[in-house]
Amino acid sequence: ALQLTLAVIKPDAVAHPLILEALHQQILENRFIIVQSKDLVWKRKDSEKFYAEHSGRFFYQRLVEFMSSGPMRAYILARKDAVSYWRELMGPTKVYRARHVAPGTLRAQYGLTDTRNTTHGSDSIESAMREIAFFFPEFQAHEWIERE
Ligand code: CMP
Repeated sequence: ALQLTLAVIKPDAVAHPLILEALHQQILENRFIIVQSKDLVWKRKDSEKFYAEHSGRFFYQRLVEFMSSGPMRAYILARKDAVSYWRELMGPTKVYRARHVAPGTLRAQYGLTDTRNTTHGSDSIESAMREIAFFFPEFQAHEWIERE
């Protein structure tokens, strides 16, 4: 059965056309179905809301600032084991760690810093549903899943 996940190409990567293209190609090469995608820019309050669970962490302000600093691209992706597959492709959050333990991953190859780390991916099926609704409020996930 197909699973859905939310993938986001963050402002650092969207700002660089070659990196944006490389990341898009990775999605296609790994046989994800792109169910929907959109380019968008967050207001600061969108950023604060999406990352509310991190409020209070030392990196929260810079994260919120960064994620509302410019255009990003969001995808609803479908694939067998989409959630874990996309997370494997991204690699670890921290870029130095990604380069060390998972050099072929997206963050290892294209990440700049622990905050500007190119991509986001939902960490569970439940967060995927919540995050898809946040980015694509009009998307009817349940209808889509039932059709599969
Ligand atoms: P993401 O997968 O979007 O989830 C939370 C984000 O917070 C993460 O990617 C990074 O962009 C950022 N982040 C997480 N940990 C750190 C950290 N230690 N230092 C700076 N930024 C971080």
